Amino acid sequence: MIRLENVAKRFGDGTAALSAIDLEIPRGAIFGIIGRSGAGKSTLLRLINGLEHPSEGNVLVDGALVSRLSESGLRKLRRRIGMIFQSFGLLANRTIAANVALPLELDGVARSDREARVAELLERVGIADKASSYPAELSGGQRQRVGIARALATRPEILLCDEATSALDPETTRSVLALLADLSREMGLTIVLITHEMEVIRAICSHVAVLDHGHLVEVGPVETVFTASTRQATLALLGDERK
Ligand SMILES: Nc1ncnc2c1ncn2[C@@H]1O[C@H](COP(=O)(O)OP(=O)(O)OP(=O)(O)O)[C@@H](O)[C@H]1O
Ligand SMILES: [Mg+2]
Repeated sequence: MIRLENVAKRFGDGTAALSAIDLEIPRGAIFGIIGRSGAGKSTLLRLINGLEHPSEGNVLVDGALVSRLSESGLRKLRRRIGMIFQSFGLLANRTIAANVALPLELDGVARSDREARVAELLERVGIADKASSYPAELSGGQRQRVGIARALATRPEILLCDEATSALDPETTRSVLALLADLSREMGLTIVLITHEMEVIRAICSHVAVLDHGHLVEVGPVETVFTASTRQATLALLGDERK
């Protein structure tokens, strides 16, 4: 579904955020990318949805070369890719229902269809009773459920999660991750989840890639990487978890 071929990303100031990344993310996978702060995780996500372009190499989504897409091609691509964030990114002055409806409004979906779809989404993520509330009236876990509902409104095939549970307590984290796993199964959604927490990877990912200082240190099935790794960067992350 997603393929990176020898991708490098340098910023104007010379910072090499990513170097020589080769990565293949299969359709329907829940694929974790783990690394310390500054490892290049968010940059990698932004390359996938075309918010950044690689300095070298190719990024392909479902066979299409992202850097070759026109503006309208990019808009179409982004409609197929939902995204959720640590900070939720909700609009404070809009109700929960209106937040979830926003991508549908931008897509020109008729009001009655919008309302039906929003009701269905809120029901699915378990916050139907909050439709008329405002973001400030919700807990962090509930806000992330709104974020998920909004990200899925246009029925994307890919969901990118940037530290989506980092602001949540362990129990809320588990419930949000369980929801993501269920949605992936139900909808055949491909999920790319970046985190600095091994626990998150262990909870739902089938595969994990370890990023360190912009380099891909290793990639493979979660169990293999966690039990058999001899790589320093991976062991350091595992060490953090065992403390
Ligand atoms: N727009 C930018 N301009 C210049 N440098 C950037 C830019 N975006 C990211 N970087 C640099 O690229 C490197 C990787 O940043 P990135 O945000 O991808 O890391 P990260 O793994 O997501 O970190 P964190 O866990 O803290 O979110 C860092 O050194 C960062 O300072
Ligand atoms: Mg980041």
